[in-house]
Amino acid sequence: MKTKEHLAHYLNTPLPIGSKTIENRMVLAPMAGLGHIALRELISEFGGFGLLFTGMCSARAVPHENPVLSNVFTWRQAELSFLVCQIFGSEPQSMAAAARRIEAEGFFGVDLNFGCSVAAICKKGCGAALLKKPNLAVEIVAAVRQAVSCPLFVKFRTGWENNPQFAADMAKRFEDAGADALTFHPRVAPDRRNRPPRWDIITRVKKAVSIPVFGNGNLFNISDGIEMVDQTNCQGLSLGRMAVARPWIFAQWTKGKLPGDDIYHFTALRLTHLLSRHYDDRFAVKMFKKFAPYFCANFKFSQSILKKLIKADTMEGIRSNIDILLKQSPETLTTPNLTLFI
Ligand SMILES: Cc1cc2nc3c(=O)[nH]c(=O)nc-3n(C[C@H](O)[C@H](O)[C@H](O)COP(=O)(O)O)c2cc1C
Repeated sequence: MKTKEHLAHYLNTPLPIGSKTIENRMVLAPMAGLGHIALRELISEFGGFGLLFTGMCSARAVPHENPVLSNVFTWRQAELSFLVCQIFGSEPQSMAAAARRIEAEGFFGVDLNFGCSVAAICKKGCGAALLKKPNLAVEIVAAVRQAVSCPLFVKFRTGWENNPQFAADMAKRFEDAGADALTFHPRVAPDRRNRPPRWDIITRVKKAVSIPVFGNGNLFNISDGIEMVDQTNCQGLSLGRMAVARPWIFAQWTKGKLPGDDIYHFTALRLTHLLSRHYDDRFAVKMFKKFAPYFCANFKFSQSILKKLIKADTMEGIRSNIDILLKQSPETLTTPNLTLFI
């Protein structure tokens, strides 16, 4: 694959996942606190993606959660057909019960979180902790498979040791237990995002299974997308932080749409309005402040712009900062300032 046109063609090739097919292979990675309903609406307005994922939702809470009151287990009717709900948990039966509700609500599919290495999650035996109990992880996949017929995804990482064979073996076991697709993030737990991911392990995982594998980790520029597909032969790309920094990235990579000069001002302002539509002012401000470091990583003077941008306690204050700082687009970077990409 030589050019961005080749990549776009590849990403626009339909891909069957279980009983359904997606028309585009570039997807939003699940991100707690970032991939909320407002950011997803903004990304939907730009278009160009195949699927969106929610941040992780507690499997214990999902069966009786009220989407009107929940900040996490909530969605727009219009996005359900391309939205996958991610759950975390450690018991096969509660994961199955959550998956049943997710299918009944009409989501595209269910995603199991076997990758999160945050201490609070791992302490409960959830997320990446399940890679220390491979049999239980496989039992969970099998229980969820029995419970639902919609597409079933598993997102996982290399494991707790740098052992590519372990990752490949787990991939095969997940497939055998009924997973329809895998998202693989080639980092060892508890590494967060400070060390580079090992894309060569994506190649190993891809080779081990016949279900689609979405490659994930450090996709920043189109050249990274080309390189990951070439190097790993993965069937799709899963983007996390860059989709927060540049919510138009899907439209840019898959539809060749170039952002205009006012894209930064427009995007920040639009997100404030969408946050205000879905959340009360306090929570909206909190979510904007989580988004801001990734967004400001686009700018040459990222730290100082970030500091000024988030200096407000209300959405109105944030909007006024946006007008002052971004109306004249600041100098930008091709690759974002990674110190803000934590
Ligand atoms: C703030 C934040 C929250 C995240 N939350 C989740 C999550 O809820 N579930 C999950 O599977 N991965 C989560 N991730 C990991 C991402 O899905 C992804 O694997 C990681 O960011 C690497 O991809 P990237 O380099 O494209 O960002 C999170 C990442 C970030 C930065």
